[in-house]
Amino acid sequence: MRILVTGGAGFIGSNFVYYELKNHPDDKIVCLDALTYAGNLHTLESAMQNDNFKFVKGDIADREAVYNLFEQEKIDIVVNFAAESHVDRSVENPEIFLKTNIIGTSVLLDACRKYGIRRYHQVSTDEVYGDLPLDRTDLFFTETTPIHTSSPYSSSKAAADLLVQAYHRTYGLPITISRCSNNYGPYHFPEKLIPLMISRALADESLPVYGKGENVRDWLYVEDHCSAIDLIIRKGKDGEVYNIGGHNERTNLEVVKTILKVLQKPESLITYVTDRPGHDLRYAIDPTKIHNELGWLPTTKFDDGIKKTIKWYLDNKPWWEEILKGDYQNYYEKMYGNR
Ligand code: NAD
Ligand code: TYD
Repeated sequence: MRILVTGGAGFIGSNFVYYELKNHPDDKIVCLDALTYAGNLHTLESAMQNDNFKFVKGDIADREAVYNLFEQEKIDIVVNFAAESHVDRSVENPEIFLKTNIIGTSVLLDACRKYGIRRYHQVSTDEVYGDLPLDRTDLFFTETTPIHTSSPYSSSKAAADLLVQAYHRTYGLPITISRCSNNYGPYHFPEKLIPLMISRALADESLPVYGKGENVRDWLYVEDHCSAIDLIIRKGKDGEVYNIGGHNERTNLEVVKTILKVLQKPESLITYVTDRPGHDLRYAIDPTKIHNELGWLPTTKFDDGIKKTIKWYLDNKPWWEEILKGDYQNYYEKMYGNR
């Protein structure tokens, strides 16, 4: 099988590349990534040693480049991770989110139509369902929950999902979509909550918690997300949406306090800053469908996964210190300077 992984130099895409190379050593993986601020080739250094892996630098919205790639590589399966993925950046500058997440997806879909594929898989997010109230812990997102987005990021992801479904209905393209909750684990870019808090706590810097820290996220260890996608692309049914999550709900404050406890740092590092505009209150996934139909179950509980993740950041300091030295520092000043 020849699998095109777009966005494979980012957080989840790179974990997926390693998952596939390990679990399906006979498959060939081609990674297409534009290497934006979020893409890091260092992450793929070990994969580069593998003859069954090939890296191509390119933009999913560049039609000519994408068509050339499909022509050369004879792709069987596309897994589209490539995206602008940070909600706060989408609040600052929505346009690039529309270009990459919507136009980019449409170019990939057109390439699939033109060259033929066995499966196009869209890596989507639970954020397309909007949010749930904090005081209704009995409610969960199912695959039939209406799309109801809050941020430019989630709106662009929802638009992409609708296009993917339209290409199935209109052109019969064999597609699947997965909508996953928040991931955490190795190679997570240090602008997102968990790696940001780990790196700042290690430097004894203040930890910026939005609002009162009451918002709830359903955290999934990244390898569990990869195993779910792997099952969907091989055994999932054409045209279907699968929610992925593992009932690991935590408030942001609980997450930050857990990190401080594991690192033996004081809670006085926590600073409450102005809330994110339009901040979603609670995400929570009902994963019954993927469990019943494909037998998927997550294997890592949050309390174990967070310890593994912190250990990874302690063992791999050069990976994230390099990132912090670069452009990201200016970004931090811009985002948090006046909060
Ligand atoms: P990320 O920001 O870490 O990585 C995105 C990757 O895409 C980077 O390597 C970047 O260089 C690449 N990229 C960006 N624009 C591109 C373009 N135009 N052409 C080619 N490559 C481009 O993101 P992530 O957290 O790994 O998320 C991957 C996917 O999973 C996204 O589609 C996201 O919406 C989805 N998702 C993420 C989470 C999460 O918790 N991180 C949860 C659910 C779904
Ligand atoms: P994030 O990792 O950006 O993921 P998402 O917005 O896609 O859920 O944020 C996770 C939660 O943490 C979200 O409720 C916002 C909050 N948050 C903070 O409180 N402080 C921060 O500095 C960041 C980046 C996020």
